[in-house]
Amino acid sequence: MAKTYCFINEKGGVGKTTSAGNVGAALSRLGKRVLLIDADPAARLTTWTQTGNGPTLADVWAGKTTAKDAIKQTAFCDVLPGDRNMALELVGANFDILRLRELLLPLKKNYDYIVIDTAPSLSLLNAAALYASTDVMIVTKPEKFSIDGIGEFYETFMAAKAGDNKKLNITGVILCDVGGRTNNAMINKEMIAETAKALNVPLFRVREDTKLGECQTAEQCLYDYAPQSKGAADYMEIAERIINKP
Ligand SMILES: Nc1ncnc2c1ncn2[C@@H]1O[C@H](COP(=O)(O)OP(=O)(O)O)[C@@H](O)[C@H]1O
Ligand SMILES: [Mg+2]
Repeated sequence: MAKTYCFINEKGGVGKTTSAGNVGAALSRLGKRVLLIDADPAARLTTWTQTGNGPTLADVWAGKTTAKDAIKQTAFCDVLPGDRNMALELVGANFDILRLRELLLPLKKNYDYIVIDTAPSLSLLNAAALYASTDVMIVTKPEKFSIDGIGEFYETFMAAKAGDNKKLNITGVILCDVGGRTNNAMINKEMIAETAKALNVPLFRVREDTKLGECQTAEQCLYDYAPQSKGAADYMEIAERIINKP
């Protein structure tokens, strides 16, 4: 049965999509069966993986098609794409917070890992992602607002735990160390290290690497585009830690 990892921070631009896509691809390169899910209406992961030309999670959610029909095989791993309709259709009075969990249930036997990329907002969709997950990976850059985003996430996390996902577990904090050499960034990195310590989880550092942005522009998997890059090595290490986690 797949472990389901939700990559989250209520702030945008912190490296969630970069981390979800690369960890998913790295797990796949290590021989695991992986499904990446784009649960962000901005659908950057969908663009990056070139999976935006068919049914999406929004269609599956609305019952118009099955997850099996929407999932695409890519150079990264299997991908369930998203689109902006997830914002338009899913958020309404009838929003069912357990729907994603129900949709994933029949898929779990087909995968070792399901990796969910989420939106940078305090949305019901993110709450649904937390209800559907077994594990959370917090993603941050060394910036004040990213750290604030961790605090905001924590409230949603506790709500999901108090709801009916009591076993939900925080696996670690990924620090995308962009612009990390300034004094301000150093102070923020201290705070992030303290946060990881307080949560009693490991802190994974991903070094600044232009290849990470380049492979997104090229709409390619990093492990094809720049397999020898620092980013490829750092994300591979995170994937190994996920696999070896007791
Ligand atoms: N370690 C890194 N080195 C260089 N650029 C990075 C790194 N991590 C993320 N980025 C860049 O930061 C930007 C925001 O990342 P993204 O994953 O889209 O954030 P989010 O999904 O949280 O909005 C992207 O342009 C991405 O390429
Ligand atoms: Mg994103």
